Amino acid sequence: MSRQKNDTAKSSNSLWGGRFEGGTSDIMEKINASIGFDKLLYSQDIAGSLAHSEMLEKIGVLSREDAAQIRIGLMQIKQEIEEGDFTYDPKLEDIHMHIESRLTEIIGEAAGRLHTARSRNDQVALDFKLWIREAYDDLDDALKAFQEALVDKAEAHHDVIMPGFTHLQSAQPVTFGHHMLAYFEMFTRDRSRLQDARIRMNESPLGAAALAGTSFPIDRFMTAKALGFDRPTANSLDSVASRDFALEFLSVASICASHVSRLAEEIVIWSSAQFNYIGLSDKFTTGSSIMPQKRNPDAAELCRAKAGRIIGALSSLLIVMKGLPLAYSKDMQEDKEATFDAADSFSLIIAAMTGMIKDMTVHKEEMRASCDAGFITATDLADWLVRVLKMPFRQAHHVTGTLVALAEAQGCDLDGLTLAQMQSAESSITQAVFDVLSPESSVASRISYGGTAPSEVLKQVKSARDRIID
Ligand code: ARG
Repeated sequence: MSRQKNDTAKSSNSLWGGRFEGGTSDIMEKINASIGFDKLLYSQDIAGSLAHSEMLEKIGVLSREDAAQIRIGLMQIKQEIEEGDFTYDPKLEDIHMHIESRLTEIIGEAAGRLHTARSRNDQVALDFKLWIREAYDDLDDALKAFQEALVDKAEAHHDVIMPGFTHLQSAQPVTFGHHMLAYFEMFTRDRSRLQDARIRMNESPLGAAALAGTSFPIDRFMTAKALGFDRPTANSLDSVASRDFALEFLSVASICASHVSRLAEEIVIWSSAQFNYIGLSDKFTTGSSIMPQKRNPDAAELCRAKAGRIIGALSSLLIVMKGLPLAYSKDMQEDKEATFDAADSFSLIIAAMTGMIKDMTVHKEEMRASCDAGFITATDLADWLVRVLKMPFRQAHHVTGTLVALAEAQGCDLDGLTLAQMQSAESSITQAVFDVLSPESSVASRISYGGTAPSEVLKQVKSARDRIID
C-alpha cells in the first residue's frame, strides 16, 4: 500500500473553486477522483451534451454559433479520446469535468454555457443509464447465442440417457437433452428479466439538474427522445438520487450468473475422471505444470467464481445506497466501478460458457453405464405395482424398498433379481415387471408435458427454438 506522504495543497478547482481559497490535498484528490473508471462513459457523456446543447439552442438559451462550436468541440474531443490523444488529470475528478475543461480549451467561453440548466448529478445519472442500456443490449445478444448453443446440444443428444440426480444421488434416468433444456429455460427467463429491466430503466434523467429541476424553459421530452428514451423521468429528486436501474442490472446479472455457476459446477463434476460424462475441448481447459495427465476445467471454475464477484457487486451497491438521504450523495460515485466490473465478468462468463457447451463432447456410454448403479429405476418398479397391481403408492414404495435391499444384498441391480425373488416381496408380481426396469424404458415412458422422454424432448426443442426471440 502506498503511503500518503506529500499531502500538499493545490490551487483551487477552476470548475467549482469560486468560493475556495486553498486547494485540496493529494489525499482528497485521490479519494475524490472517479476519472480512473468513469472515463469509460466518455461517449455517453458526449451524446448527452450534444442532445442538451441542441435543446438549449432550440429554446433560445444557446445561440446558433455557440451551439455549433460546442458540437464541433465535442466531436473533436471524442476523436481525441478514441485516438488515445487525450490527457487525463485526477485533479479534474471525473469524465464530465474532463470533457468540459477540454471543451473550454478548444472553443473558449462558449463551453461555459453548455452546463446551463444541467448539473453533474443528472449528467452522471444519464451517462450511467446510457452505458447500462448498451450493456443490456450486448448481453442480450450474448444470451441469445448461448440459448442457441444449449438447444443445439439438446437436440443432438435428445436420446442420450444419463442418471438424473437429487442430492447428487442417482434418482431417475433422464436424457442429456432434457438436462440441457433445463438450463435453456433458466436462461430464457434471465433474458426476459433483462428485457423487462431495460424497459423500466428507459427514462431520461437529463434536465433534473442538481435535484430540483431548473428555471430554464428546457424541453426534457426533446432530449429524452434524442437519446432514445421512452420519456423523461417524472421526478427530479428521484432522477438524481436513484440507482435502482444499476441495482436491477446487477440483480439480473447475479441471478443469471448463479445459473451459469450451477452449470459450471456440473461441468466440473462431469468432466472429472470419476464421472467422465463429458470431454472439454483444449480451448477451454488447461494442463498442470506438474501432473502431466491433467486437463483442468479452469474456464468452468472461473465462471463459478466470477458469479461470486457479480453477486458481490450487487451487495456492495445495495449497501452503498441503503442509507443515503435524498438526493445525490458522493457515495453514489461508488456505483460505477463494481457495475463495470460485473458487466465485464458477466459478458465473459456467458461467452466462455457458450464456447464450452458448443465444444463439449458427450460420452454417452459412460452416462448410460452409470445408470446401472444406484437402483435408478426403483420408481418405475413402484409405479408398475401401482398401475398393474393397483397397489396404493405408499405400499408400492415399501415393497420396492424391500426389493432394493434384496438386490443390494445380492450385489445386483433390480433387473438382476429373479422373478421368484421379486415374488418373495409381493406374490402377484409377474414377468412383465422386467419391461419397466431398464433406463431406456424408464425415460421412454416419461412422456408427460415437459418430461424427459426423447420424443418429448424433441417437442421441447422445437418449442424452445420458437421461443428464442431476436
Ligand atoms: N463523479 C461523480 C459521480 O460519479 C459525478 C457527480 C458529481 N456530483 C457532485 N455533486 N459532486 O457520481
